[in-house]
Amino acid sequence: MSFDLVLFGGTGDLAWRKLMPALFQAFRHGTLPADGRIIGVARDDLSDSQYRALIRTRFDEVELAKRPSPEEFDRFAALLHFLRMDLSQPQDYERLAAQLRERNADTVVMYLATAPSLFTVACEQLAAAGLNTANTRLVLEKPLGHDLASNRAINETVRSVLAEKQIFRIDHYLGKPSVQNLFALRFGNALFEPLWRRETIANIQITIAEDLGVEKRGAFYDSTGALRDMVQNHALQLLCAVAMEPPINSHADDIRDEKLKVLRSLRPWTAQALGQDVIRGQYMSGRMEGEIVSGYRDEPGVNPESTTETFVALRTEIANWRWAGVPFYIRTGKRLAGRDARIVVNFRPVPHAIFHSPAGAANQLAIHLQPKDGLELHLLAQAQDQRHSKAAAQSLTPVHLDLDFDKRFGSERVGAYERLLLDVIDGRLNLFVRSDEQEEAWRWVEPIMEFWRNEPSGPRPYAAGTWGPSAASAMIARDGHCWSEEC
Ligand code: BG6
Repeated sequence: MSFDLVLFGGTGDLAWRKLMPALFQAFRHGTLPADGRIIGVARDDLSDSQYRALIRTRFDEVELAKRPSPEEFDRFAALLHFLRMDLSQPQDYERLAAQLRERNADTVVMYLATAPSLFTVACEQLAAAGLNTANTRLVLEKPLGHDLASNRAINETVRSVLAEKQIFRIDHYLGKPSVQNLFALRFGNALFEPLWRRETIANIQITIAEDLGVEKRGAFYDSTGALRDMVQNHALQLLCAVAMEPPINSHADDIRDEKLKVLRSLRPWTAQALGQDVIRGQYMSGRMEGEIVSGYRDEPGVNPESTTETFVALRTEIANWRWAGVPFYIRTGKRLAGRDARIVVNFRPVPHAIFHSPAGAANQLAIHLQPKDGLELHLLAQAQDQRHSKAAAQSLTPVHLDLDFDKRFGSERVGAYERLLLDVIDGRLNLFVRSDEQEEAWRWVEPIMEFWRNEPSGPRPYAAGTWGPSAASAMIARDGHCWSEEC
């Protein structure tokens, strides 16, 4: 199968950091179809060989094990081409069309790794140049808009030129191996299904913590914030994966129908819930690994009086038979105590205790997404070395079963972008987000945005290197629960 992958934003941050390394890995693993071209598109004035040379230097920033040897790079570089384009100029699309006609590949992937403000014009111009044929696939990077109206406007334009099955909206969290494993755990094993409900589960916590700050993306982040950057997409997709009903099969639309139902069942916000169940924070200077790091407002590109949130913690519920009354807590932030993404399912304690257990001890399933990728099942057991003491015989101690997927399957597994890029080339939509899911997610976060706009107190400060504002702990403590690292 032949393909042309046109990478709009071909000299941008995403192309360097994620897409090129992922394409190279697929090339190295022999999974990238051999008959392919990758055409970087940007406004820079570069020849193919200059573009290849640029990419070669950027690979020096990639971790050693994923860096090509000179020979490997030369073979990979043969796929790389460059086209200078100004996305507002119709004649530039004609030049692209001419370049694509040279080969007439089986599949043409248009990957818009550009500022979202260019999505609409790029789609209109691609169509005007006749580049929206049946073999075209369009990949849209998040953020797709900044609210429901802008998201709808983009989706309407895109759908006016391409069929929904040609549109691949990326949420790279869905490509993470641990998220695939969550689907496998839930729908490939019978063990947990009878327990996966309100009668047995006390609460579910979704944490996506980052130790990094906003790095070089200060200006972008300052107009975005954690709610739009992480909650509206990654965190809600994880929530869908954990809460959805088993789909009738593994077809993309059957999976997406079930995710959509979860989003539609999220409890609507009331004024009271907005006031007490959503906490926003912003990082101040703090100490991380022994070094003092800057506060958010001192980061390059950030307004020194910014009220943008770098942390969100919230509590919600899912109004359906399976989940009614079970709190779902979502928490994400930058410059937190560590890089740690996990979903923790806390089961209810036994209904009648005949042993002494540590206070609050109950079963817990922790699904680790990163940096570790695995499952931990927390149980209670009797410590064998104390079996002669009567008191000890009646006491339980926490133990856990630990399944480390990196050890089990090797850490060289297919990364999120590698997986998703191959899926686009193959036309598999399972791990991509449908427009109605996105719209529903925007509809649900909009009242929070609106509430914050009218709330003068702004985000709560937290020191870099901590777990965020203490109000996030107070919020969960109100329900008699605690974040998993606090219990
Ligand atoms: C991106 C956000 O979508 O996800 C970034 O825009 C964030 O702000 C990143 O850092 C996190 O992804 P990962 O895979 O490193 O957890």
